Amino acid sequence: MIMIDSYIQAGKIVSKIRNDASKMIKEGCLILDLVEYVEGETLKQGAGIAFPCNVSLNEIAAHYTSPANDETVIHAGDLVKLDLGAEVDGCIADSAVTIIAEGDIGERFSQDEINLHEEIVEASAAGLDAAIATVRAGVELGKVGAAVHEAISEYNLNPIFNLTGHSLEQYNLHAGISVPNYDNHDPYRLEEGQAIAIEPFATNGVGYVNDAPGHYIFSYIADKPFRMKSTQKVFNHIKKNNRYLPFSGRWITDKFGERKGNIALKQLSEAMAIYPYAPLREKKDCFVSQKEHTVIVEKEGCTVTTL
Ligand code: CO
Repeated sequence: MIMIDSYIQAGKIVSKIRNDASKMIKEGCLILDLVEYVEGETLKQGAGIAFPCNVSLNEIAAHYTSPANDETVIHAGDLVKLDLGAEVDGCIADSAVTIIAEGDIGERFSQDEINLHEEIVEASAAGLDAAIATVRAGVELGKVGAAVHEAISEYNLNPIFNLTGHSLEQYNLHAGISVPNYDNHDPYRLEEGQAIAIEPFATNGVGYVNDAPGHYIFSYIADKPFRMKSTQKVFNHIKKNNRYLPFSGRWITDKFGERKGNIALKQLSEAMAIYPYAPLREKKDCFVSQKEHTVIVEKEGCTVTTL
């Protein structure tokens, strides 16, 4: 049974925070301040954080969040992807938006480049609208992807072919179904009552992402014994607090200190007790936008929970 009220409530919380946080995105804003605002507000609203707030700039498509003491600053004209998630009773709302940072672009970008950024932002939004228009019980996943690809192609841009949306289940952010951003001919048909996050990415590059250096987001994989006491202590904390949903390295270092926290995260990753997500960078270092909503599939369409 789907807990529709909880999905709706989580969606309302995410939309409000996304809209408020979007206004902070301008020249000089620290990524750290943005992610701490989003995560803090989520808790204040009485929801849980479904995953660390991702703020990914320009050619980074996803999976960047600030480490402790991050000094990364947003500059005017940057293409800023803000991707956030909240859960109410484990029912997740996942939404993302791309903002072109306000302010004086100076010498950083030409007006032509800013125009291109605007088109890239519009293209992922058009891709999302097209996808949502196709969603209803019985539609094949490949058809949803085809709608995304077609809408983005009208801008002479590419979707990111190797990134997908995903089904959501209680306390499960990636629940097994992948929603493609092109027609991959997946014949799986969406079912009434399913919760789905749809997230087209658009780029002026070739449309593939690769791993970039660093790991800032992690998720629990499996229980393992550790001889080092401090690592075991960190792992016990993760098992207790982050067993089901992704967590930030920053949450760990804030609690255990940077040295101890980072050593533990490295050991836990090497032992495959936790999975370290790499930031994802467009293959040709080109610009990437993203727009995402969570929807509940219905007989004749869908309800968007994160509008
Ligand atoms: Co998502």
